[in-house]
Amino acid sequence: CGIVGYTGFQDAYEVVINGLRRLEYRGYDSAGIVLDGKEDHLFQVAKTKGKVDDLVAISGNLVGKANVGMGHTRWATHGVPSDRNSHPHLSNNGKIALVHNGIIENYDTIKIMLTEKGFTFQSETDTEILVNLIQYFMDTNPETDFPEAVRFALNEVYGAYAITVMHDDYPGLLVVARLGSPLAIGLGNKEFFIASDASPFVEFTKEAVYLEEGHMATISLENGVDIRNIQDNLKIVPAVQELKMSLEQIEKGGYEHFMLKEIFEQPKSIHDTLRGRLLVDEGIIKMAGIWDHLERINQAQKITIIACGTSWHAGLIGEYLIEEFARIPVEVEYASEFRYRNPIITEKDVVIAISQSGETADTMAAIKMAKEKGAFIYGICNVVDSSIARVTDAGSYTHAGPEIGVASTKAFTAQLTILSLIALKLGKHNGHLSSQEFMKLITELDALPKKIEEVLEQTHEITKEIAKQFVDAQNFLYLGRGYNFPAALEGALKLKEISYIHAEGYPAAEMKHGPIALIDENMPIVIIAPKQGHYDKIVSNVQEIKARKGKVIAVVNQGDTQVAQMADYVIEFPETSECFSPIVASVPLQLLAYYIAVYRGANVDQPRNLAKSVTVE
Ligand code: G6P
Repeated sequence: CGIVGYTGFQDAYEVVINGLRRLEYRGYDSAGIVLDGKEDHLFQVAKTKGKVDDLVAISGNLVGKANVGMGHTRWATHGVPSDRNSHPHLSNNGKIALVHNGIIENYDTIKIMLTEKGFTFQSETDTEILVNLIQYFMDTNPETDFPEAVRFALNEVYGAYAITVMHDDYPGLLVVARLGSPLAIGLGNKEFFIASDASPFVEFTKEAVYLEEGHMATISLENGVDIRNIQDNLKIVPAVQELKMSLEQIEKGGYEHFMLKEIFEQPKSIHDTLRGRLLVDEGIIKMAGIWDHLERINQAQKITIIACGTSWHAGLIGEYLIEEFARIPVEVEYASEFRYRNPIITEKDVVIAISQSGETADTMAAIKMAKEKGAFIYGICNVVDSSIARVTDAGSYTHAGPEIGVASTKAFTAQLTILSLIALKLGKHNGHLSSQEFMKLITELDALPKKIEEVLEQTHEITKEIAKQFVDAQNFLYLGRGYNFPAALEGALKLKEISYIHAEGYPAAEMKHGPIALIDENMPIVIIAPKQGHYDKIVSNVQEIKARKGKVIAVVNQGDTQVAQMADYVIEFPETSECFSPIVASVPLQLLAYYIAVYRGANVDQPRNLAKSVTVE
């Protein structure tokens, strides 16, 4: 998840290791370094599962050995975290070293081709395919020089990546490229730096070039920075920027908090969750975890979803999705309740455990119990190779990337995306969902990242304005119906977690059985009312609230008139099928909670008393 590179006059080991430390905030599970071995030109490599400190423990002998090198911190995507899967990866002839962030989607086909040509592979990573593909281009045509071979190889792969490559026969030279994952080049005096963001080199230089999408650069002290278009090799004039941000601002990608950064990452994280799984043109959903156990899952007597916190809210929406599209009975339980109440679970049951961290103690214990009773356990985790991911029988990773803010945002919408994929896939295969309906829904699912981009753009300022009005509120109610009832629970949880305002989520119709007693002119009520999904009923609920002078913040579809007219504040989001509306509607609710907390001066990323990963009961 982090890349650092250096060529210059300083000790490359120090620069790279310190740089990797600066990138630690991004989250990672393994680390590695490679140095140019000076006269003998033999790479010196050290890599390990674990932290940068673990890497330092095994590589102390490399101090002062070189002026050129690069390092990497890895967040596992293909292949578990292990020494072998850590970067850098070397080509078969040992001459090329590569570090890589991102995913190479067509690595399977390239691997087959290279294997036929006699290449062998030491790891399970997609990265090793790319480094050998570069060697392949140099082997097959002696005219091809190193940077050219990198370019040829990149033209064969698709996916999202940022890479840095070194070649033993080209000392002092670094080749970098970017498609989808960021990469910055720091321009020093007789030295160059490379990093995933500027934080590793901001102490050495304030001048940087941010590599653009589809560009690569060849960097050496002799020839400086030569930027080319990967596709056609056209030369690009570098746009040098002056770094004005502080170290802390850089880490947060220019956002004030990790939470805001993660909220804004959602178009990308949802896209990453769908990547390689949702193939709209072919009309299929590809999910090995489901496909390999299709019969077992589709014939389940019931599915029990277990989770905690925000993941439990995702589970509630999962229940609606799976019951609607796959017609399998679903129950959703707090893991902490489930584990202590002797639930009825048999070998005919399927249990879906949802956990961002994959380490939550209650969820883990609930899984163990269900396993003992013979249930088939399916995991939905964000952290690859986490304890829960390892203990489950099958599963799907959410691929939302590391989530650092304690209040979950992008992991939640990624969980909803996975649950949507599962429900639609099951429904398609067990015949409950017609091909036509399936096609319509997957096309909509595919459009979600764009819609969320739109929501972020259009609601950012409005939520800020609304937040200002409610900084001193003591209580909040969140109401929704159908799929948006759990979205209301999650909206309320976000607010109370980070702003410490008491907030309750409720099914809108249940309001009359209790919460209505609380409504007066001091009670703000967030009401989620998309066009598709019990709209008329919600209109009556809003009337009931207004009759009692409650302050209504309506989260409605673009162009809404009826609810919008009655509401005190309106937040609009684009229309989708009801089943996907929580994914889109949750985004402005996250922003609202965020800004209320910010205006109250709360510690948004690390709210009091809360932990990101609760590994105790
Ligand atoms: C903690 C976190 C929540 C999270 C919950 C479950 O309480 O603060 O944000 O939803 O744990 O965590 P998990 O990693 O299992 O999803």
